[in-house]
Amino acid sequence: MHSPAVSFICALASLANVVLATNLAYLPFEKIQLTEADVGNFTAVAFGNRKFHHGDKHRDKCRAFPGTEDWPADSEWKQLNDTLEGALLHPVPAASACYQGEYYNATTCAFLVQRAGRTHFWVDDPLAVLTQWMQGNTCLPAANPVGNCTRGGSPEYVVNATTVKHIQAAVNFARNKNIRLVVKNTGHDFGGRNTGAGSLSVWVHNLKTVEFSDDYNSTYHSGKAIRIGAGLESWEFFSHMARNNITAVSPGGPTVGAVGGWMLGGGHGALASKRGLGSDQVLSINLVTADGRFLTADSTTNTDLFWALRGSGISAFGIVTSVVMRVFPPLNITNAGAISFSVSPAPAAGLPVPLNSSETFWNGINIVYRFSTKVVDAGGYSYTYIYPLGNNTYLYTGYSILPDITVADVSALMQPLFDQLIAAGINITAPPATAYFPGPYAGANRLNPAPPGEQPAQTRYHSRLFPRANWEDDDLYAETMAAIRAGVEEGQYNFHGIAYGPTEKVAGMPGTDSAVNPAWRKAILHSSLMELQPVGLTAQEADAVDAKAKKYLDPWRALTPGAGAYINEGDPAEPNWQQSFYGDHYPRLLRIKREVDPYGVFWAPTTVGSEAFEVVTDDGYPSSQNGRLCRVEK
Ligand SMILES: Cc1cc2nc3c(=O)[nH]c(=O)nc-3n(C[C@H](O)[C@H](O)[C@H](O)COP(=O)(O)OP(=O)(O)OC[C@H]3O[C@@H](n4cnc5c(N)ncnc54)[C@H](O)[C@@H]3O)c2cc1C
Ligand SMILES: *[C@@H]1O[C@H](CO)[C@@H](O)[C@H](O)[C@H]1NC(C)=O
Ligand SMILES: *[C@@H]1O[C@H](CO)[C@@H](O)[C@H](O)[C@H]1NC(C)=O
Ligand SMILES: *[C@@H]1O[C@H](CO)[C@@H](O)[C@H](O)[C@H]1NC(C)=O
Ligand SMILES: *[C@@H]1O[C@H](CO)[C@@H](O)[C@H](O)[C@H]1NC(C)=O
Ligand SMILES: *[C@@H]1O[C@H](CO)[C@@H](O)[C@H](O)[C@H]1NC(C)=O
Ligand SMILES: *[C@@H]1O[C@H](CO)[C@@H](O)[C@H](O)[C@H]1NC(C)=O
Ligand SMILES: *[C@@H]1O[C@H](CO)[C@@H](O)[C@H](O)[C@H]1NC(C)=O
Ligand SMILES: *[C@@H]1O[C@H](CO)[C@@H](O)[C@H](O)[C@H]1NC(C)=O
Ligand SMILES: *[C@@H]1O[C@H](CO)[C@@H](O)[C@H](O)[C@H]1NC(C)=O
Ligand SMILES: *[C@@H]1O[C@H](CO)[C@@H](O)[C@H](O)[C@H]1NC(C)=O
Ligand SMILES: *[C@@H]1O[C@H](CO)[C@@H](O)[C@H](O)[C@H]1NC(C)=O
Repeated sequence: MHSPAVSFICALASLANVVLATNLAYLPFEKIQLTEADVGNFTAVAFGNRKFHHGDKHRDKCRAFPGTEDWPADSEWKQLNDTLEGALLHPVPAASACYQGEYYNATTCAFLVQRAGRTHFWVDDPLAVLTQWMQGNTCLPAANPVGNCTRGGSPEYVVNATTVKHIQAAVNFARNKNIRLVVKNTGHDFGGRNTGAGSLSVWVHNLKTVEFSDDYNSTYHSGKAIRIGAGLESWEFFSHMARNNITAVSPGGPTVGAVGGWMLGGGHGALASKRGLGSDQVLSINLVTADGRFLTADSTTNTDLFWALRGSGISAFGIVTSVVMRVFPPLNITNAGAISFSVSPAPAAGLPVPLNSSETFWNGINIVYRFSTKVVDAGGYSYTYIYPLGNNTYLYTGYSILPDITVADVSALMQPLFDQLIAAGINITAPPATAYFPGPYAGANRLNPAPPGEQPAQTRYHSRLFPRANWEDDDLYAETMAAIRAGVEEGQYNFHGIAYGPTEKVAGMPGTDSAVNPAWRKAILHSSLMELQPVGLTAQEADAVDAKAKKYLDPWRALTPGAGAYINEGDPAEPNWQQSFYGDHYPRLLRIKREVDPYGVFWAPTTVGSEAFEVVTDDGYPSSQNGRLCRVEK
């Protein structure tokens, strides 16, 4: 067994060294770029020029697909690999080790089924995605699998990018050869935006370099800042924060990317009510665009892109290679303590003392969520679940985390909640507030730098950002809570609610002037009905799953006109997703998309401009990425 202190040192030793830089213009891997000389006579990687790209004429209806005539010959893939200095991978799904045939290996399969989820294995795999159902479930890890392993909705080739040159060559090749392009970082996406059949995938996972500056200058910030590579994970970012004695916004999930889909889609974390969303503290973005060009977007250069990428940039405008983030002095975090209560009969040993009436339970629910405004106003967040346990039994669990406020002040803040619950007949034991981490937030993951690991799953979100206005009117609040109750009681969904307040005031500039979903600015509760998409459904059965969720989400939508949902934890089948995920920003975002990517090189479901294409599957399974990408006929 090694001690926590020892593993901390090992983790730091394995991180790329931090260089003290000044203007943070480029990370070392960004200085290696594709040149006209590299293009040479391999015109397949020639740069594009969108000014000479005319309209929709003469464009193929569908992207090339393996086995079709326009799919590049092996010799062309080999030439691409030469340009990429050998970084082109043709990987097979890891779980092919569980299936009879060429790749069968019982030892490897046993590892995948029993232990890989407790390691970093799946996050390091070039093909694996952590939410599998959009891939088509064509090669699930299982001890005794049925059927054969096929590639399904996984990419055909993967570029293991370690330089900007690799990314430029991949983008140019995909555009020139009419190949579907996908971008993958950690594989955490819940919407199938990181995978696709017959695609070339740009894998940014290994771009982990970081540079730190004490005197960065930009329009909205002078002082400490950090440039982080696109592949950096949250736990790795925390180690850099600890080493540099700084705090920054970063995802709560330790293996979530700190730059990728998280930041590009907004990104919530422990400081959301204090410093805003992930995209709010970004000062500069380096990216490769659809032409294959490498650009910087900030508050003075390529300002439209800078605006669009922060909060609405997932797989739409380019491949981000690094971002500069504003950083702060370290701060302490207080845990207000966890409470839970359930209705009787107690379903199992170990659960909290049950209540004897479900009305008392739902009254308790009204009390805890109403109180969340107090936590948010103090700069914190509340992280909660309501579980239906069968036989009219429900369980609530929740805790609150508050940055930059003392343990004593948090105790005083929370006491009225505990008093109200007890007065309502809910026999909780008031938990003590404690220092969340033994040191400042920058050291958050210090004691546990090794990520706990992830196992691919079938997670499905249906969500809404409930606005604070619904909390400020008693009748509206009662209706809102009744609609949540219906989803749990009748729908039998797990409810997940996170109370946050990343308002414009909290975000400041340049965060306020960004394309993040405006619904976030007015939000008090990021609310989700969650389920696991069953394996083996027919397309019709999958449609029924969608229809059932709609029955419970439509009342949420009706109660929150003009609000929206968080793309990263939303439903890939969200109706009217343009409004829900982007709000009033959508028309401007679409104009920018058409200007910078008239080719539609970057495509992923529910991203800006994605209505121009659809995935055509054999069976019509909704939201599947296991099919060919084709233009939607006008
Ligand atoms: C265990 C777990 C914990 C989570 N915790 C949180 C949390 O605390 N807060 C929160 O807000 N969300 C959280 N999420 C949701 C998370 O924000 C999304 O899953 C997000 O998509 C992850 O982005 P990624 O880059 O790590 O993953 P990926 O799946 O690799 O990428 C996600 C999307 O971003 C695109 N993308 C990635 N990198 C780039 C790039 N460099 N340039 C352009 N496009 C890119 C990909 O194409 C894909 O569409 C969590 C998810 C999981 C599974
Ligand atoms: C930032 O501006 C300050 C004050 O003008 C200057 O001293 C410093 O050198 C600048 N830093 C960089 C990296 O240019
Ligand atoms: C094109 O490339 C091939 C192989 O790399 C080389 O032999 C040939 O001389 C090149 N032709 C030109 C015109 O550069
Ligand atoms: C690309 O080249 C490297 C190095 O020669 C090789 O290991 C790899 O297998 C090649 N990739 C493909 C897809 O052939
Ligand atoms: C199976 O995988 C194990 C572990 O990766 C490896 O050591 C072994 O050589 C493999 N066996 C075969 C037959 O390839
Ligand atoms: C699996 O593949 C084998 C060999 O190609 C084939 O004989 C068999 O029919 C396949 N099984 C299924 C269920 O498709
Ligand atoms: C990707 O590239 C990095 C750096 O060259 C290398 O360490 C890693 O093993 C590669 N990954 C795969 C799956 O080939
Ligand atoms: C870290 O920063 C804080 C606040 O800026 C400062 O008080 C503290 O002394 C610093 N700690 C170290 C070890 O430098
Ligand atoms: C943070 O907490 C530590 C003790 O856990 C205390 O010594 C320190 O003063 C606190 N810092 C701030 C800024 O409150
Ligand atoms: C529920 O519990 C309360 C005391 O906690 C008791 O007064 C009441 O009679 C109980 N109701 C039922 C229906 O058991
Ligand atoms: C519900 O109660 C019945 C009868 O007591 C029991 O058989 C069943 O297992 C319970 N179901 C659940 C999900 O607890
Ligand atoms: C509250 O629960 C505790 C155990 O958690 C129990 O000792 C106490 O008697 C209960 N009080 C009431 C009023 O039910």
